[in-house]
Amino acid sequence: MANLVKQGKTKQMFTTDDPEVYRVHYTNHTTAGDGLRNELINKKGEVNNKISSLIFKYLDQKGIKTDFIKQLSDTDQLNRKVTMIPLEVVARNHASGSIEKRFGLKHLLEFKKPVEEFYYKSDELHDPIINDSEVEEFGILTGKEIDWIRKQTRLINQDLKALFAEIGIILVDFKVEYGKTSDGHIILADEISPDSCRLVDAKTKKSLDKDVFRKRLGNMMVGYDEVLNKLETVLNK
Ligand code: C5P
Repeated sequence: MANLVKQGKTKQMFTTDDPEVYRVHYTNHTTAGDGLRNELINKKGEVNNKISSLIFKYLDQKGIKTDFIKQLSDTDQLNRKVTMIPLEVVARNHASGSIEKRFGLKHLLEFKKPVEEFYYKSDELHDPIINDSEVEEFGILTGKEIDWIRKQTRLINQDLKALFAEIGIILVDFKVEYGKTSDGHIILADEISPDSCRLVDAKTKKSLDKDVFRKRLGNMMVGYDEVLNKLETVLNK
């Protein structure tokens, strides 16, 4: 019998026969504003499960260790059990979203070097930005682990930037999360999809991600479908 282990805002995690493996079900829930806005969008779960599965497989081939085992069905995948580190690690190549607002930057200004930021995962506190010394002080990670995660996020950024450039899409920014395995290794976990990345068409600069939902710009699935179709053309060969 599969038991629900975790009910997230957009995904559900279930036990499997193997205690080290979970089944993750991608739902159609789409949230904004710390989950205050939560709507069901047809096919979103399926498209994100497929996109994230393709991206995690691609990263695995690039030597990035992840919790992804395999895609099980349209909406489900098998993941290795990890203890999640309560940080959202954001990498930014161009200015958009909160950094644009915080520093009054020109929209999509290209950074000379990617910028990385840590946010502490807490809905009650609205995921506050957190610096390295606070991450260490609060016992979330050691200094060495912080450096490793920053380096790993840079490698992931390089791989993803190249992948999206190949299909005419600019990777503006993205968020990743990491987990610890039972033997203490830190690996990439959770998902990478248009829910957690900003992706714009290189020519038209049209958003192909959750900003369409956040800003109520129309049917966000048009962009999500385009991202999936284009990824399939280069990754499903
Ligand atoms: O809002 P902000 O500009 O800080 O978001 C940076 C990146 O992190 C965006 O790609 C956004 O989709 C992602 N993000 C996320 N989950 C959050 C906050 C941001 O996936 N809770």
